[in-house]
Amino acid sequence: MASMSFALNRFGITSSSTATESEPDLSVTVNGLKMSNPFVIGSGPPGTNYTVMKRAFDEGWGGVIAKTVSLDASKVINLTPQYNIELISDRPLQTMLKEFKQLKQEYPDRILIASIMEEYSKTGWEELLTALSKLDALEINFSCPHGMPERRMDAAVGQDCALLEEDCGWVNAKATVPVWAKMTPNITDITEPARVSLKSGCEGISAINTIMSVMGIDLKMLHPEPCVEGLLLYKAVRPIALAKVMNIAQMMKDEFNENDCSLSGIGGVETGYDAAVFILLGSNTVQVCTGVMVHGYGHVKILCAELQDFMKQHNVSTIEDFRGHSLQYFTTHTDLVKRQKEAIEQRKAERRGLKSDKDWTGDGFVKETEYGF
Ligand SMILES: Cc1cc2nc3c(=O)[nH]c(=O)nc-3n(C[C@H](O)[C@H](O)[C@H](O)COP(=O)(O)O)c2cc1C
Repeated sequence: MASMSFALNRFGITSSSTATESEPDLSVTVNGLKMSNPFVIGSGPPGTNYTVMKRAFDEGWGGVIAKTVSLDASKVINLTPQYNIELISDRPLQTMLKEFKQLKQEYPDRILIASIMEEYSKTGWEELLTALSKLDALEINFSCPHGMPERRMDAAVGQDCALLEEDCGWVNAKATVPVWAKMTPNITDITEPARVSLKSGCEGISAINTIMSVMGIDLKMLHPEPCVEGLLLYKAVRPIALAKVMNIAQMMKDEFNENDCSLSGIGGVETGYDAAVFILLGSNTVQVCTGVMVHGYGHVKILCAELQDFMKQHNVSTIEDFRGHSLQYFTTHTDLVKRQKEAIEQRKAERRGLKSDKDWTGDGFVKETEYGF
């Protein structure tokens, strides 16, 4: 018979373990969407067409967010090479819809999310929403940095809360599935658009998209490379992504009912341990974009194994057992200064050393002095 032990782990959870221990459960339910694990393909090259999205499902990703679509793909002009400055999908919407339909027929239980973007137009958004009614959820892309500001799309909306509120309102008035809003980090306070999105009916926030950057200047030619501000992503952005996710999670905790809204963390995830950090900061799911391009679709198995390894080390059996746990430890510089002052005062107040000559023991005179060197 399997022996059973109970232990209070670091999360304050009394967990049971048996000698025939089962693997920690990675499944999550987010806004009613059931996923076998929290790993979701982030919108971008890994979700551009039927073939690659099918691979993601076959390899076991919890969900797929397709490459961002808009009503009129002919207006999207991508450059070659495009890797560092790619826009949204330049494939016709009808083609993408056909592929979404086929994927949902073949994988009815898997979560397929459309990433959407449209011009600042109520009728445009309504038309797009009608076309996409059969998907599991929608992610509004308010976040690609060098997109099409002249058409009031992309981060131009994510940086303007008034526009964003209207777009969210139109989408949520029509949507019959959960809606997430994807945030740009190219803004002073990311909690502002996140708050407006949730107040305007979105069920979730995704953060972050890429960061505007200048990669360098060719010192022979004296030209920048490339000659537009490019996308900074992957490992380089992870600390910034974590800070933005922490800011949003704190805001959600303080101002919204946590069970009603979700958070999808993105930016530089390439191990299951990176994912654990995003989850400790409150993420329900974790999106991976560049990591898939670097390591391939099969990498999800390693991500899952590493996340389970973390869970085993801490003796937790579900994602909810540790989600958001580390938020409580963040404080302010002012608070640290106050605590430091209190600690110094307490130490000064403590009388050190021996009270009288009779207390010398003969062992360790140096230790027993007032200064305890
Ligand atoms: C080439 C490329 C294209 C991208 N296209 C989209 C897109 O169409 N829609 C979107 O919301 N995000 C897009 N992204 C952003 C990613 O989804 C993700 O937010 C970002 O790359 C940070 O995650 P990562 O470090 O895992 O790549 C793109 C990223 C790259 C590198």
